[in-house]
Amino acid sequence: MSDTIRIAALISGGGTNLQAIMDACESAAIDAEMLFVGSDNPAAKGLERAGKHHIPHFVADYKKIIRDFRNKPRENALPADFDIQDMRNKQSFFSGDADPEKTDFFLKSRAIAEAALLERMKDYDFDLLVLAGFMRNLSPYFIDRVNTDPHSPRIMNIHPALLPAFPGTDGYGDTFRYGCKIGGCTVHFIDYGEDSGPIIGQRSFAITAEDTLNTVKEKGLREEWILYPECIQLFAEKRLEIITTKDSRKKERRIVKIRAK
Ligand code: GAR
Repeated sequence: MSDTIRIAALISGGGTNLQAIMDACESAAIDAEMLFVGSDNPAAKGLERAGKHHIPHFVADYKKIIRDFRNKPRENALPADFDIQDMRNKQSFFSGDADPEKTDFFLKSRAIAEAALLERMKDYDFDLLVLAGFMRNLSPYFIDRVNTDPHSPRIMNIHPALLPAFPGTDGYGDTFRYGCKIGGCTVHFIDYGEDSGPIIGQRSFAITAEDTLNTVKEKGLREEWILYPECIQLFAEKRLEIITTKDSRKKERRIVKIRAK
């Protein structure tokens, strides 16, 4: 057993992963305690799950915040410490030839929404933030304010595919439509890209001729509920080490090495 870590979650929807993690905390299957649950979506069902477990929860309504900024793009709505040039340099959601206005709107509107989230989070001293079906890409503005030590990432995400295959918003759908015979899920630390950060753990399942998109999603979720608590426990046991390697094209890559117990 290790010291109990303090974790927090961000969700957007049903929250079945959140449920699995809260249950693992409460049954002491993992050495973690859930401090709060945040959401971008006031209608997220997972907020009720948090309430049932007496876990403080809150919403930063992204849809409304982004709409308000689109209707009235006031620069003074931006957080005081927002630096657009720094954000442009760091982000990798948009390529260099993307429409600069679109990129800037994304970076600015996200920073406003993220500042609202951070404001609600600031009273909690958490060790690890888990994205549990949080359907918003976090911009470098948010990531830098949580990952204050760049060598010790502390935002985890679960993705419904075997990364690096099928990043994006519909991992199981993309896996199924591609005709894959194996599907899976991945837990990774997040970085400035989309689903591109160092992989911590993966679980897989067979896809047979009888499967439909629905059964693939069901199979996948069942694996997610096992995988996410396992990865949180590895973090609690301080067994996740970030090392730098080079791929076949000599490009540097940060990966996770799991230390033996
Ligand atoms: C899960 O399948 C998770 O992998 C996926 O959303 C679902 C949330 O389910 N996450 C993403 O696609 C992140 N890009 P849940 O709300 O029941 O945990």
